[in-house]
Amino acid sequence: MKVSATLAMNNLMKERVSKGLETYKLGFGQSPFPVPKILVEKLKESASIKDYLSTQGLESLRNEIATYYKSKLNLDLSADQIIVGPGSKELLFLTQMVLKRDLLLPAPSWVTYAPQAELLNHPVHWIQTKKEEAYMLTSARLEAFLNQNEDRKFVLVLNYPNNPTGKIFSRDELQAIAAIAKKYDVKILSDEIYGAFTFESAHDTIYKYYPEGTFVYNGLSKWCGAGGWRVAFMICPKDDTALRAKILQAGSETYSCTCAPMQYASIEAFKSTVEIDAYTENCKKILMKIRSYLKDNLDSKKVEMTIPDGGFYSFIEFHGQKDDTGKELCLRLLNETGVAVIPGSAFGRPEKEHCARLAFVDLDGTLIYDEDFLAKIENADFATYFPQLAEAVKRLNAF
Ligand SMILES: Cc1ncc(COP(=O)(O)O)c(C=O)c1O
Repeated sequence: MKVSATLAMNNLMKERVSKGLETYKLGFGQSPFPVPKILVEKLKESASIKDYLSTQGLESLRNEIATYYKSKLNLDLSADQIIVGPGSKELLFLTQMVLKRDLLLPAPSWVTYAPQAELLNHPVHWIQTKKEEAYMLTSARLEAFLNQNEDRKFVLVLNYPNNPTGKIFSRDELQAIAAIAKKYDVKILSDEIYGAFTFESAHDTIYKYYPEGTFVYNGLSKWCGAGGWRVAFMICPKDDTALRAKILQAGSETYSCTCAPMQYASIEAFKSTVEIDAYTENCKKILMKIRSYLKDNLDSKKVEMTIPDGGFYSFIEFHGQKDDTGKELCLRLLNETGVAVIPGSAFGRPEKEHCARLAFVDLDGTLIYDEDFLAKIENADFATYFPQLAEAVKRLNAF
């Protein structure tokens, strides 16, 4: 197995930093923001909790998640259909393992889904998308593929907002894809780990339109900047108790339970809506400020960006470069300018395409607590607050 492309780029970045070379870390997609203070306080209080918990996760946490989904997305969930796990990565893997189906992915898709299927010896099929369609899977393309492959059973992973493009589906597209999935008995794994960072529109979910065949994944890694806490959850279809039991059995024989103090502290993420909403809004304000800077300042004749609708990534295409592959281009970019991005081929795009994911996370995340800056964010001088990003844009334009 290869090391994941994002981790490989992270290693190259670290190597540069250790040599004292200037580096602009737009490769690895870790949240730049600190964990909300209220969660940190709760974690301190919970540090002495030492017992194993149930594999499914604390009931009080699952109840809060269900209440949160009712208030934010108007979904009626029961705590029973929620499983808490040590990362959505793990939960996605266990679901793929239990479903035992071919994996179907739109290209580009996040780097981990395909290697997970390969570890399980499940075939992987890619559906290419088009730049002119903002790299989105369309229901027409999905149906065309399924029509030609009626002999196989598929699990389709959708990511909303998407990593690497930051794009979201419209409600119409979600409904259309849901209808096709239903027609061809496709299971959907809807990775909504960036859902709280949807910029203009409210976070929607395909679960609403296909509840009997959709599994939803979410957690604290991005939304609460807590990737290292390893707290995530999945929502299973309500009536498929046999499948849920299999996932729980797999969890019980591997990770046993999600870290107990983290689970107790995580309750606050769903319960303390005033503090957490303010935190989320501040993160979004900053991400949107960066988005508009990139939009206005990247020279689109050289670096064309697909405008993200959420999350902290954008997908870019380089024009006028001579490299044989996108990967070679990204390595040359890193060596010549110090700017690290991940080639599109890591996300399933053709090797020759000069595309890449740009993660706009090289910034001081404590800005979310800078009230002065937040009050004047619209007019704040970008380079003063985001020097690394401003310099990275200059270097990209000059490359
Ligand atoms: C699209 C996507 N899904 C899932 C994850 C992993 O989340 P977790 O930390 O919950 O395993 C990431 C992390 O980079 C991601 O980008």
